[in-house]
Amino acid sequence: MSEYDIQRIDAAEARPLRRALLRPAQPLAAVDYAADHDPASLHLGAFKDGVLVGVASTHPQPMPGSHRDTGVWRIRDVAVEHGHRGRGVGAWLLERCIAHASTQQGSVVWCTARVGAYGFFVRMGFARSGPPIEDPEEGPQYTLYADVPPLERSWKIS
Ligand SMILES: CC(C)(COP(=O)(O)OP(=O)(O)OC[C@H]1O[C@@H](n2cnc3c(N)ncnc32)[C@H](O)[C@@H]1OP(=O)(O)O)[C@@H](O)C(=O)NCCC(=O)NCCS
Repeated sequence: MSEYDIQRIDAAEARPLRRALLRPAQPLAAVDYAADHDPASLHLGAFKDGVLVGVASTHPQPMPGSHRDTGVWRIRDVAVEHGHRGRGVGAWLLERCIAHASTQQGSVVWCTARVGAYGFFVRMGFARSGPPIEDPEEGPQYTLYADVPPLERSWKIS
């Protein structure tokens, strides 16, 4: 994994890759989320030779259908360029998001995933919450969640 470098980035830097990999038919504004402007949010970029090839974001947000409203972090738009998939970049980005939630006293992380990414989150230890929600544009959206492991509570991302 040393060939890749993970750094904190601004949401604006993440948006072009978000759009290209997740919503290519939509304008850039479609991936400008209100939560991007939450000062607690974290946006990460994976770089290869100085080029951004992966992104992931996380911010506090209660999970739909759960009564818990504190310590709950949403992980959003984990996306890796096609030529860089299958090398552990997505896993690393996801783990760093979970680690950040942990440093902020997060106890649960959750996300929504399309069919194509569902297996990734399951492989990463996430469990499904309820039936999928049908999105007219993107198809079934699965909600998945995972406990934040206590082991990672000592991690710190500057
Ligand atoms: C999902 C995605 C982020 C995975 O990134 P990646 O860098 O290829 O993932 P990794 O190489 O870190 O894979 C980690 C593990 O998950 C597995 N995995 C990756 N994608 C998988 C998938 N779609 N289904 C099942 N398992 C998957 C890998 O085989 C690997 O398992 P291993 O540890 O046993 O080898 C990437 O495919 C992607 O950008 N998809 C399009 C965007 C998207 O849909 N994102 C999710 C929306 S939040």
